[in-house]
Amino acid sequence: MLNERIEQGVALLTMDNPPVNGLSLALRQALWEAIERLEQDGSVRAIVIQGSERAFSGGADIREFGQPSALAEPNLPQLTQRIEACTKPVVAAVGQLALGGGLELALACHHRVVADSASLGLPEVAIGLLPGAGGTQRLPRAVGLATALQMITSGTPMKAAKLAALPGQALIARCVPAAELVEQALEFARGTMDCPKLSERSVAPDDALLNAARAKAAALAYPAPLACVEAVAASTDRPFAEGLKAERAGFERLMATPEGRALRHAFFAERAAGKVPGVAADTATRAIRRVAVIGAGTMGSGIATACLMAGLSVDLIEPQPEQLERGLKAIDKHLGAQVDKGRLSEDKAAKLRSQLRASLEDAALAEADLVIEAVYEDLALKQRIFQRMDALCRPGCILASNTSTLDLNAIASATARPQEVVGLHFFSPAAVMKLLEVVRGSATSPEVLASSLAFGKRIGKVCVVAGVCDGFIGNRMIERYFEQALFLLDEGASPQQVDAAIEAWGFAMGPFRMIDMAGNDVSWRIRQERAKAGTLRRAQPLADALCEAGRYGQKSGAGWYDYPGGTRLGVPSGKVEALIASHRSRLGRVVRVVDDQEICDRLLLALGLEGERLLAEGIALRASDIDLVYLHGYGFPRWKGGPMFELMQRDPAERAALQARFAATPHEPGGFW
Ligand code: NAI
Repeated sequence: MLNERIEQGVALLTMDNPPVNGLSLALRQALWEAIERLEQDGSVRAIVIQGSERAFSGGADIREFGQPSALAEPNLPQLTQRIEACTKPVVAAVGQLALGGGLELALACHHRVVADSASLGLPEVAIGLLPGAGGTQRLPRAVGLATALQMITSGTPMKAAKLAALPGQALIARCVPAAELVEQALEFARGTMDCPKLSERSVAPDDALLNAARAKAAALAYPAPLACVEAVAASTDRPFAEGLKAERAGFERLMATPEGRALRHAFFAERAAGKVPGVAADTATRAIRRVAVIGAGTMGSGIATACLMAGLSVDLIEPQPEQLERGLKAIDKHLGAQVDKGRLSEDKAAKLRSQLRASLEDAALAEADLVIEAVYEDLALKQRIFQRMDALCRPGCILASNTSTLDLNAIASATARPQEVVGLHFFSPAAVMKLLEVVRGSATSPEVLASSLAFGKRIGKVCVVAGVCDGFIGNRMIERYFEQALFLLDEGASPQQVDAAIEAWGFAMGPFRMIDMAGNDVSWRIRQERAKAGTLRRAQPLADALCEAGRYGQKSGAGWYDYPGGTRLGVPSGKVEALIASHRSRLGRVVRVVDDQEICDRLLLALGLEGERLLAEGIALRASDIDLVYLHGYGFPRWKGGPMFELMQRDPAERAALQARFAATPHEPGGFW
């Protein structure tokens, strides 16, 4: 947990709690005990605390989260106070990472020698908290109010080299090359007798700055950012000990907020999603360097872009010259936009672009480590393509389909190697959306699944494993959600009322704005296919009428809203109002007043209920995976945790009563509720 070595009067303490030196009770105890003992040890003049190659410390040990040991004494606030009170100089040797409690530990030391490449940050706000071990009080004293506010309210870490360059900063005594960190820290410790305390410094107050930060934070829907600002403000106008009390009070308040609980749920959901039953954690993953993408349409070009951005070599294969041209343009446009936004240098963009080869032929399949098929949604076509892959790809190549509705097992059966076939369901725009549903076919091997998850991570996606069914997790649930949205129109609501209600609840975009963006024609075609196949669950004459009127959405300048002059923000449409009116009169429906609460309850419960069915069928592995799908693919507000977390917060009796009421609504097609 803590290794110790004494060299020329300096004790070197090395934290050893893999993977990132989480400050568990055992590590806190070991540090406390070492400081107590070394302070009394006449052969020791100074103490250096260092971490591992990977991290000084990543902060609280997340394995302790919610456990009694997280708060057991010595807790982190006590440990930081004890270190600062040590009568011998304590030097933090900070390499790689000092985040959250890790940075607070370093701030409590008397001096900090930091590797120039290290990242320092207080990310607690991202899990709905504020730094609770003196960070809100010591950081402003070390780097000034403006930088501390920025770091604490955004949660974004900063590079040590940048922090060291701040005028008048007291955070970093020496900023050194990473390779020299320990040597320089030891040398620094040998050369000092001083024990300066950040708590004894003062912070220049700046009301204008604080008020601007308050206004910005108050506009957000969850309380942590504003609480962060108030805690930092306390560093400017009262003694340190009083500031610590304000910080503690803020921390305890935030611990109890529903938004904070939801954000922490999301944090743990992301960590749980990588664990897949039947796939051992040490399953060997295959090296993926060259990816072939088949089809250069909307999705194919987006997927190719996502792979290029991650530094992979890509072959884009598309038989239609104009389509290929269009796909390449889309890729260039995305890379160009990254350069314009300053996220990518021109050189880097050119280098990434040079890793792309485009072809009208499919010979390059022979070189691929992974092939992702993104051609039209047509089973026979996809099966032909998979037969081609089977003939051309080398053994060990992973064969993936981006299908959103077809039976992956039927696609896999077109090959002689169904164990190599997996679904990689990207979301549009594929280079931007974080979600990737990794679809496990009945024959997909654990190795292929593990490799697909590693690939998804490599290209920056949040991966969720789903079983085979129509729509997988996200789209199967969203269909139930749209059904309810359309039912609400039948009943008397307008598209803008439905959207406004659920957006006020927290969704980034209501259902009608969302489908206008994605294209109403996509689900229209799917309904037509299903009607032909006799598998249509629920006819949608109003949505059909919208498409029959050519109102596909943003792309056609009109959908549930009008988009005059190509604006992205729709305006309510008189034509849609008329369509709805004639639809209602055809149904012979007497409209009623629908309230916003009913809108939110119907939409959210529809998601939750279908989610429960996906769990029961084994399509989703865990409720938190479903939440991730919605947080990263559908604009569900993170501070509400996700549809399944939301469902869990409901009182079971109230929920049952709501479902019974919805089931009994006249005209509500039976069954679902
Ligand atoms: P798209 O129509 O934009 O592109 C399909 C492309 O495949 C066209 O460029 C076409 O020329 C090409 N293609 C057709 N036959 C081919 C062949 N034999 N070899 C190579 N290329 C061929 O379609 P989109 O929207 O990109 O969809 C592609 C797949 O992705 C579909 O399976 C769809 O269900 C799925 N998907 C679509 C999403 C979306 O939002 N559009 C989201 C997630 C999945």
